[in-house]
Amino acid sequence: MIAEPAPTLTDLNGHRPRVPRHVAIIMDGNGRWAEQRGLSRNAGHRAGTENIRNIIRTFGERGVEVLTLYAFSTENWTRPRREVNALMRLIGRVINREVKELHRNGVRLVHIGDLQPLEPEIRKKVEQAIALTKDNDRMTVAVAFNYGSRAEIIGAVKRLMADGVPPERVDEQLFSSYLYTAGLPDPDLVIRTAGEVRLSNFLLWQSSYAELYATSTFWPDFDTAEVDRALAAYARRDRRFGGVSDDGGQDAGHAAGNGR
Ligand code: FPP
Repeated sequence: MIAEPAPTLTDLNGHRPRVPRHVAIIMDGNGRWAEQRGLSRNAGHRAGTENIRNIIRTFGERGVEVLTLYAFSTENWTRPRREVNALMRLIGRVINREVKELHRNGVRLVHIGDLQPLEPEIRKKVEQAIALTKDNDRMTVAVAFNYGSRAEIIGAVKRLMADGVPPERVDEQLFSSYLYTAGLPDPDLVIRTAGEVRLSNFLLWQSSYAELYATSTFWPDFDTAEVDRALAAYARRDRRFGGVSDDGGQDAGHAAGNGR
């Protein structure tokens, strides 16, 4: 893990540095946060959900347009039944508790993933929240619930084939329009909390050129200062998208780079 220096949200001239348009977060470490306190894993998940309101507000205030939260993966079904049930109940509670306020604040909620295997009651809550907020345009929050990137890609291929799309018409833009994230910009910054540095089947196609940021902080402790640290780290990154930097690669550090 690379230690990130203290945040600077304005440069020396008082300008706001680059802000990512889309931030995606792998919210990890609820279980370890709880274990450290002698609490149940479910208590950790509850603490994790309590953090969500502040994080959405803070990213919104910093100018981020889209925030994607990885809340439940297609692999999370393998967890003990009790934990899966608790996570299902939690999403219902988060929606009950937060949706009105998010709606008041102009937040549009979208879902990425497969809602079909969820209990009809939960599915309905998610669908109602999406319908209620669909015209809001201050910020988009995408909840990845029962999401898996490989399943998303396979689903896209199947639907392309079912639509009879000829191979010569398939390009990156068309393929993207068959993914759950159709219409959303690709993430600029992917944050993972709790120390692991891997994508865990999250936005594999969409994160091709995302900047990755990992912190050892557990999700329930990921607060405003942590948000600013991640954004400051992002503002210092040199994004080249396979090309050379703005100075034409004259900088010695960049000249040695391979353009990735
Ligand atoms: C990872 O911690 C976290 C999860 C699997 C669930 C995250 C879910 C929430 C915060 C609640 C639902 C959120 C929304 C937006 C409805 P972990 O259990 O893997 O922690 P560990 O690695 O320490 O065991």
